[in-house]
Order: sequence, then structure tokens, then C-alpha cells
Amino acid sequence: MTQAHPLTSCQSLKPGQMKRFIVNDKAILAANVNGEIYAIADLCSHEDAILSNGALKDGCVECPLHGSRFDLKTGQPREEPATEPVDTYVVEIREDTIYIQM
Ligand code: FES
Repeated sequence: MTQAHPLTSCQSLKPGQMKRFIVNDKAILAANVNGEIYAIADLCSHEDAILSNGALKDGCVECPLHGSRFDLKTGQPREEPATEPVDTYVVEIREDTIYIQM
């Protein structure tokens, strides 16, 4: 069963920013791309790098360790060495709070 979990207020995640959150013991990266909020697992599928320590560019987050870029909409890597997607989460905005479905 999915449940909505609050992450943070909309004001605290500005366009061009990403942040790490822990929800139910899972690390979540939430990012604001031109006003759209996305949420993916905050762990690279290649090795155990924390994606939120990387860079946010062109709707993707670039892994800080070997540079694979993950599409924030789909979780798919755009290039190797990562070949597996990371989990994505449905985002909801309610009364100025960002929620994810888990
Ligand atoms: S750990 Fe992320 S690309 Fe290798």
C-alpha cells in the first residue's frame, strides 16, 4: 500500500536545488528542476555513491563517483558505467508541502 510522506516545504527546495531526505530508512533525493519536483532513490545503482553529492544538470543528477547521469523523471542512467535505473517516487504538492508516495 502506498502512503504519502511529507519531505519538506516547497520554499525550502528552490529551482536548481536538490536535497537528501531519509524516509522509512530510505534515502531519497528530491530535486527542483525549473519548478518541477522529482524524487528518486539517493543511491547510485552502480556502486554505493550518494547521488545528492553529485551535480544537478539538464533534468539529470550526475553521480559524484563515476559520472553516470540519471534522468530524474525515469530513474534511467543516460550512460555507463551505471546500467540499472534507480527507484523513482511519485511527488505530490499539498498546501505548500512536498510529499512522496511510498
Ligand atoms: S557509483 Fe555512480 S556511476 Fe559509479
